[in-house]
Amino acid sequence: MSVCRVPKTLEWVGGLDGYVSMIDQTKLPTELVYLECRDQESIWHAIKRLSVRGAPAIGVAAAMGVVLGVRDFVGNDRSAFLAKLDEVCEYLATSRPTAVNLFWALSRMKNFAQALESDCVNTIKVSLLSEAKAIRDQDAAMCRQIGEHGQSLIGEGHGVLTHCNAGSLATAEFGTALAPMYVAHEMGRKFKVFADETRPLLQGARLTVWELAQANIDATLLCDGAAGALMQSGQVNLVITGADRVAANGDAANKIGTFGVAVLAKYHEIPFYIAAPSSTFDFDMPNGAGIPIEQRDADEIRKGFGTLTAPPDIPCYSPAFDVTPAGLIRGIITEKGLIEPVTTEYIAQVLS
Ligand code: MRU
Repeated sequence: MSVCRVPKTLEWVGGLDGYVSMIDQTKLPTELVYLECRDQESIWHAIKRLSVRGAPAIGVAAAMGVVLGVRDFVGNDRSAFLAKLDEVCEYLATSRPTAVNLFWALSRMKNFAQALESDCVNTIKVSLLSEAKAIRDQDAAMCRQIGEHGQSLIGEGHGVLTHCNAGSLATAEFGTALAPMYVAHEMGRKFKVFADETRPLLQGARLTVWELAQANIDATLLCDGAAGALMQSGQVNLVITGADRVAANGDAANKIGTFGVAVLAKYHEIPFYIAAPSSTFDFDMPNGAGIPIEQRDADEIRKGFGTLTAPPDIPCYSPAFDVTPAGLIRGIITEKGLIEPVTTEYIAQVLS
């Protein structure tokens, strides 16, 4: 097991008649339980209710969901099979709107099937399963590379702030924002991680500090509202967060509150980095203005985790993500290297 010591987020178990086993992240940190998804609907619901979440992990789940959706197709009519595949992809694409890895993975699965020469539907099904597993394995490898490219940013004795969970649980393994921390830790460097709790669904509290603790990385949890005071106290040397979608110019959508953290970092002259694999870049989006932002149910704010903490009918503003303009981002750590400065031209150069 890698240094992050977190059990695998999700994997395919068995052959074509197998299933997807995933950690049910809604149950963490109190229970480590696994879901068995055996059809496309269970994958759709797992993504929707955040049992599996984090842009790269959503992409992997969707790719495996495609296999679950087409494997019971009866007959050997290639065009009818490809039509069914389109239908399954369209359905899975409605699960969540912001993380581009979802759409990236679905397109990859569709393009892969269309490019196959075989007329044997069963061969196509088996090949699709291999492709879904390849997406998982490649994601894990890209995350490890992100860690290698980003580790030198974390110096001995540094304080690193992160927001939401962009760790192993948000990817196939290892994470994006947390990957440089895992690699720096593996290299014996001593540093401290500060994790925003990340209202309203507490991914920082429930997931990030949980997984850092598994690796014995020194982690401290704070309320989102304490990030400014923490920076003012001089304990933060850099910020690293993940992203759900990075536009061609580097504007980056990530968990709600990330933009505020980036503004605070700018004010305190603290470098703010995004860590993301190439599958999180959307080159059809010239800038962040067009990134679709998911709106969440008001009760996640009023009645989080079942306890009423506000008047039951009070209207709420609950975007799940915000967009940090490229101008606030010092660099983007990718599997292909560090993109610094963040410009349209340099992004295209590094990722081409
Ligand atoms: O709503 P979530 O938990 O799916 O939001 C996740 C994030 O915002 C992550 O930071 C992002 O997906 C990057 S994960 C490597």
